[in-house]
Amino acid sequence: MIRKELCKIVSQDEIAQDIFELVVEAELVNEISEPGQFVHIRVSNSWDPSLRRPISISSYDKKSKKLTMIYRKEGKGTSLLAKMKPGMDLDILGPLGNGFPVDKVDAGETVLLVGGGIGVPPLHELSNQLKAKGVNVIHILGFQTESAVFYENEFMKNGETFVTTVDGTYGRKGFVTDVMKELTFDSIYTCGPTPMLRAIQQNYQDKKLFLSLEERMGCGVGACFACVCKKADDPQGVSYKKVCSDGPVFRAGEVVI
Ligand SMILES: Cc1cc2nc3c(=O)[nH]c(=O)nc-3n(C[C@H](O)[C@H](O)[C@H](O)COP(=O)(O)OP(=O)(O)OC[C@H]3O[C@@H](n4cnc5c(N)ncnc54)[C@H](O)[C@@H]3O)c2cc1C
Ligand code: FES
Repeated sequence: MIRKELCKIVSQDEIAQDIFELVVEAELVNEISEPGQFVHIRVSNSWDPSLRRPISISSYDKKSKKLTMIYRKEGKGTSLLAKMKPGMDLDILGPLGNGFPVDKVDAGETVLLVGGGIGVPPLHELSNQLKAKGVNVIHILGFQTESAVFYENEFMKNGETFVTTVDGTYGRKGFVTDVMKELTFDSIYTCGPTPMLRAIQQNYQDKKLFLSLEERMGCGVGACFACVCKKADDPQGVSYKKVCSDGPVFRAGEVVI
């Protein structure tokens, strides 16, 4: 069930340049069904900006009711969010969307989790759940540069972790796809910029592959059609899927990216 809730901010820390980890205490944690779902946040008490901002659930703990999000300070909305302090109330709608299906892989399988930039956060809870299930998880985390790198140690706790930076200032120089070529695995779960998702989908058509997409959003609940993308089996493009309520996670080949 989707809930709208005023949550208490527990902590907010800058964990890399312009990257914030925000922890809230929220009853809606009990409604989360899959890693990769997201929440829609009201970042201001005024009507500017009027639209909520979608942010992935990075991890959660149903016992303590803690929900962790990681976001990049980008524009007006996330800049306002970055100013909020522990103890303040935050208006959150969620959990929203369909996340990564953990039941599609079995214990003993080797699964690659590939994140690009701010696509890394939702893979953390996924990694935790796959590891707990006995899946062998390998992570590839791609960033622009050293100052943008975060959560390497958190992922290392669950399995082998490769970090790439485009400028070579940290980890391997280059793209996540360079490291993918060197590895053997059964399935892929990925989230990140569209060109990265497109390249992975093109190169790994023989693998079980799930991709989390990003679109600009209005309502977040399937009512406004702001976030539609074309269905892959309808090349004329007259029928659509909504990223907010049909996704954000899709099977490879389900929608046009
Ligand atoms: C399902 C979903 C999950 C997301 N999860 C996260 C997350 O975990 N962490 C995180 O940092 N961000 C995440 N985002 C992106 C985040 O919602 C946007 O960065 C945020 O809304 C920007 O708001 P703003 O007011 O700061 O920036 P704006 O002033 O609205 O825009 C700043 C810049 O970001 C671009 N932008 C804004 N929204 C998007 C978007 N949805 N996709 C691509 N470009 C966009 C704008 O074109 C502009 O260039 C997610 C988006 C979706 C749809
Ligand atoms: S954001 Fe309104 S339908 Fe998806």
